[in-house]
Amino acid sequence: MLRLVSRRVVLITGASTGIGAAAALALAEAGFEVLAGVRDEGAGERLRAAAADGAITPIRLDVTAPAEIAAARAQVEARCGERGLWGLVNNAGIAVAGPLEFLPVEDLRRQLEVNVVAQVAVTQAFLPLLRRARGRVVITGSDAGIFGAPLLGAYAMSKFAMEALADVLRRELRPWGIKVALLEPGVIATEIWGRSLADGVARLEAGPAEQRDLYGPLITRVIAQAERDAQEGSPPALIARDVVHALSARRPRTRYLSGRNARLTGVLARLPDRWLDALVARLIRW
Ligand SMILES: NC(=O)c1ccc[n+]([C@@H]2O[C@H](COP(=O)([O-])OP(=O)(O)OC[C@H]3O[C@@H](n4cnc5c(N)ncnc54)[C@H](OP(=O)(O)O)[C@@H]3O)[C@@H](O)[C@H]2O)c1
Repeated sequence: MLRLVSRRVVLITGASTGIGAAAALALAEAGFEVLAGVRDEGAGERLRAAAADGAITPIRLDVTAPAEIAAARAQVEARCGERGLWGLVNNAGIAVAGPLEFLPVEDLRRQLEVNVVAQVAVTQAFLPLLRRARGRVVITGSDAGIFGAPLLGAYAMSKFAMEALADVLRRELRPWGIKVALLEPGVIATEIWGRSLADGVARLEAGPAEQRDLYGPLITRVIAQAERDAQEGSPPALIARDVVHALSARRPRTRYLSGRNARLTGVLARLPDRWLDALVARLIRW
């Protein structure tokens, strides 16, 4: 049962597209005052226009830029004052794909910087405001945080880290009544797939011939699967519903495993390692 609370302020990062945009709109619809973190002004204005008057305010926020985090914090504080910040949704993310053997370490660093380090930096900046409101933190993990698929090693590493981040924050923040929820979406039809594929293919083309010789057939099959996933994934509105629940329910869940294949992944991830390895090898013919 949802308890819709009006005029509580929520900040969501990576709100330009996909799950972030859907969650911003759903939160506005549910009566929250939404501050939508975006890197592109046009995306922010589109979001503002899509919601009822004044329900969504775009805020410039590249989560990897300390100066932008500090500026956003000042803006949010001015907006919510003594009420404090009710919700922080750490949603911004990228997916770096490719076999670990050939993944340039600077791409691994970029993956971990955006998906892990920046999430912690943003959370640190906003915790004093969240404490004022006895507010809540929502973290966008993934089912890739419970099962690491071949060619998605860097992304899976970042999402396994989100599992630890959510568990530790939940336990550390308990004395202040700050609740922490982790989203574990399965396959969701958003731009992340196209972005990740374009990025991965460019890296493959720029990489050594040996990579193509060794991993080429697997890469071709995984790309075809990812293209299908991009089309057939669950709608981002499904995850937006989890975000609204996590910020509205009296007793939010600690984990929200939802979207295409997520529950199946949850079950498979509990199989003994060697069984699961054999199953994966069969599925991807590797
Ligand atoms: N789609 C899925 O199947 C799926 C499944 C599980 C989990 N997730 C997670 O869901 C979250 C949202 O992804 P999505 O699927 O909705 O993909 P998306 O449409 O590509 O959205 C990603 C968002 O993150 C933003 N972003 C990227 N780097 C950023 C940075 N340095 N600073 C601030 N914002 C940044 C993007 O902004 P720009 O437009 O400015 O680049 C965009 O708003 C991610 O954490 C992703 O890992 C997705």
